[in-house]
Amino acid sequence: MSSYCSDDTVGPWAEDKLSKLENYLNAYITILKNQSWCENIIYVDAFAAMGRAELRKYNKEKDDELPDLWNYEKQEEETAYINGSPLRALNLKKCFTHYLFIELDANRVKKLQQLKTEYPDKNIEIIQDDCNKAIFDYLSRFNWKKSRGVIFLDPFGMQIPWATIERIAHLSPTNQPLEIILNLPIQTTIERFLPNKFEYNEKNGRLIQSYNDFFGSDEWFNLIYTEKQTLFGTEIAKNLGADDTLALWYAQRLKQLFGDVSIPYKVKNTKNRGLYYLIWAGQNATAKKIANYVMQQGDKLHIRKQ
Ligand SMILES: C[S@@+](CC[C@H](N)C(=O)[O-])C[C@H]1O[C@@H](n2cnc3c(N)ncnc32)[C@H](O)[C@@H]1O
Repeated sequence: MSSYCSDDTVGPWAEDKLSKLENYLNAYITILKNQSWCENIIYVDAFAAMGRAELRKYNKEKDDELPDLWNYEKQEEETAYINGSPLRALNLKKCFTHYLFIELDANRVKKLQQLKTEYPDKNIEIIQDDCNKAIFDYLSRFNWKKSRGVIFLDPFGMQIPWATIERIAHLSPTNQPLEIILNLPIQTTIERFLPNKFEYNEKNGRLIQSYNDFFGSDEWFNLIYTEKQTLFGTEIAKNLGADDTLALWYAQRLKQLFGDVSIPYKVKNTKNRGLYYLIWAGQNATAKKIANYVMQQGDKLHIRKQ
């Protein structure tokens, strides 16, 4: 389950992810603002959505996924809003020199456009496009000897193929100017679409190919599935704990590309089910320490009531 619903509301666990993003960006901008050589400090929100979103209300019958950080009893009758990732970046005390918000959905882009009026002193660009293309069109403008940036990749599911991650990591031939904070969605990748018992057939062949593109390798299959002999023949069954194994493997692959990586942080619901992992990748050792630190911090709420 993603934080976002088709009705534009978000699940309360989004706060866990967003407060960690905000705390990391705050540290990042504070450090880089003191570096006189750094002319451009860029924040790219590749899956920007709307800026702010309504929190889904608790529905006793439908909603069995109570998050720990939310007191539903008190909030049941009230409409509450949460600042999404674009606002987390815009509201920091210190400013990025450039903000790029990319979003595919036209209605969400309209809401993003309003941020330009709300924040007239900030250098905001909004692109309605597939981020797998738009990121590179935009970033090709900068001189990476004098620029640094963070890209937040927060998809619903498998919208970022490994080829995009590789392109980001290889953007500059001489240094590693970009860091990423990535939402690795497990609920919408492993749990929802991959069957517990795998059978080779045409449909699953296509499924395997889409996962190969997403992970940039076919090794994921043997991390998730094990072939077992049963009374009825050979069975290919999903491994318990496959999500953690996969996240650690994916993180190691990010490390090979970027130089370093944080410990994957699992965002969960109150049934202790993993929804997605947050992973930082970059080259700077201090940034890695900060990323690991903020990922382990408690959650703070940023809720605006109507
Ligand atoms: C999980 S939401 C992002 C939430 C946002 N980061 C926030 O904190 O408010 C994912 C968003 O990505 C958009 N999207 C999906 N595929 C995309 C793509 N290929 N390029 C750009 N945006 C995309 C969706 O329309 C949706 O608004």
